Amino acid sequence: SDSNVIVEPVIDSTNQYMLDRIPHLQSGDTCLAEYQSAGRGRRGRQWISPFGCNLYLSTYWKLEQGPAAAIGLSLVVGIVIAETLNKLCGNKVKVKWPNDLYMNDKKLAGILVELTGKTGDAAHIIIGVGINIGMSKNIIQKEETINQAWSALIDEIENVERNELAGNIINSLKESLRIFEKQGLKPFLSRWFELDNFLGRKVKLLIGNDIVVGIEKGINEQGALLLQKENGEIIPYIGGEISLRSN
Ligand code: ATP
Ligand code: BTN
Repeated sequence: SDSNVIVEPVIDSTNQYMLDRIPHLQSGDTCLAEYQSAGRGRRGRQWISPFGCNLYLSTYWKLEQGPAAAIGLSLVVGIVIAETLNKLCGNKVKVKWPNDLYMNDKKLAGILVELTGKTGDAAHIIIGVGINIGMSKNIIQKEETINQAWSALIDEIENVERNELAGNIINSLKESLRIFEKQGLKPFLSRWFELDNFLGRKVKLLIGNDIVVGIEKGINEQGALLLQKENGEIIPYIGGEISLRSN
């Protein structure tokens, strides 16, 4: 049956809203908000979510393959959203492993995948997406400054139809997740390489207290980031506790 969309003007976090309702959800159900009082990023970090100018949405997906497939899923989400945005703004939107979108080398959007479910069972996945659209420097209050360079779609296009964009994102997400469920990452791999903001660039990985440097070589079929070391060896990195930075 068809999935549902709910729009809330004000919410703590669209991800939390969906997490709280998992037993009642079907794949594709989506929550949108105009404002989040407790928007969140990875590892408890804050997602700045001013009113009425950006897109904050969370989509539920029941993933029969179980929690282990979630890494691939989050890469697919990044690809799909980048491609949807690129139809509006001349291929300026790029992906950063594992789940950020960049435009003009600055953070444009973030994806936060949260899940419940044991290994061996289907996973209940909440796909949270925050996209900066019309956010301007002076909307952001002093106490909640963003501690890295960021961009917004308005930097490149004047009029963004937020409702239309949200609809396109939800539809292409659902379509692509169905393909991912049947075929895995394979059909998406070459698309990732087209969009990878750091491909061929010198980067560093922050892994706990360790720092690893190398040349970014894209991803493998498991969704691991490939890093070429000084001795030429290419090493795959996977896992939630890794942050990619330019070097
Ligand atoms: P990584 O996941 O590689 O560690 P990250 O530093 O971007 O990347 P995340 O937890 O993914 O960390 O994202 C949260 C971070 O995003 C915040 O610490 C802040 O720097 C930044 N941020 C918060 N709100 C916004 C926003 N609206 N637009 C752009 N960046 C934001
Ligand atoms: C990140 O880059 O760390 C991910 C940020 C994800 C933000 C979105 S906004 C909609 C959804 N609700 C949340 O609380 N977070 C995600």
